[in-house]
Amino acid sequence: MDLYCVMGNPVDHSKSPWIHARFAALSGQALRYGKRLVALDRFAAEVHAFIAEGGRGCNVTVPFKFEAAALACRCSARASLAMASNTLTFEDGTILADNTDGAGLVNDIQRNAGVDLSGRRLLLLGAGGAAAGVLGPLLQARPSSITVANRTRQRALVLVTRHEALAAQEQTALLVRDLQELTGDFDVVINATSSSLHGEAVPVPAGLLRHGALAYDLMYGAAARGFLQWAGEQGAAARDGLGMLVEQAAEAFLIWRGVRPPSAQVLDELRALLSH
Ligand code: ATR
Repeated sequence: MDLYCVMGNPVDHSKSPWIHARFAALSGQALRYGKRLVALDRFAAEVHAFIAEGGRGCNVTVPFKFEAAALACRCSARASLAMASNTLTFEDGTILADNTDGAGLVNDIQRNAGVDLSGRRLLLLGAGGAAAGVLGPLLQARPSSITVANRTRQRALVLVTRHEALAAQEQTALLVRDLQELTGDFDVVINATSSSLHGEAVPVPAGLLRHGALAYDLMYGAAARGFLQWAGEQGAAARDGLGMLVEQAAEAFLIWRGVRPPSAQVLDELRALLSH
């Protein structure tokens, strides 16, 4: 049976084995998908050990996504732009890196939430690894503008500079603003900061959301609650990152197996499971 896994630290909480098991069952694919806790200095060694065991691919989560892209023999265009990978494929002795996080986010917003991003004004909060993983695919959805705001302005500038050519190609205005000085009337606000993990407040002023705007947190569960509550109080529709989690997995499954699994069904099942 073909072997896959998710590698991370921590990894115990990961829903990926459950999601891929459901994809496999529903699409008639024979595979095994496990999880591996990797010591912080052992990522490359564990990848090579997994390949030696017959592993066909793996998902990569915090904190190894940057190392995964650097380790690969070849990166997809979106993994190169993100400088990070969440999906490795092992083929004929080579390691191929891709990044399905951004496609997962865009698919969840457009297909599952039914919000078309083209022509919309987007605000992306954060410029760390999570933001880097999604900016390219967000640009490819051709919104009218994407404003990137980060606590450390320099980091936002670096991220935006790297994406300028793609923004020009997609005819999307790509802007950098300071968090505290943000003004505007955004259609979609995406929280890619980790402020809530540190128990800190939503890092933006009120009054940025047009009524009925979509507020999206890349995290789910308790970590997303503060931001989504803040957004809901301002009349926005709030959505957590559970759908992105399932959709990024679906993109990885497609890369590995050549089959698109029924992700919307699996998202419904996972939400029901987590609400019990
Ligand atoms: P991840 O891989 O989850 O993106 P990261 O690369 O450490 O983790 O990035 C964390 C992001 O959350 C960064 O944009 C960080 O801002 P800085 O670049 O200024 O560090 C942002 N962040 C974390 N805590 C924050 C807070 N309390 N207020 C605002 N932004 C915060």
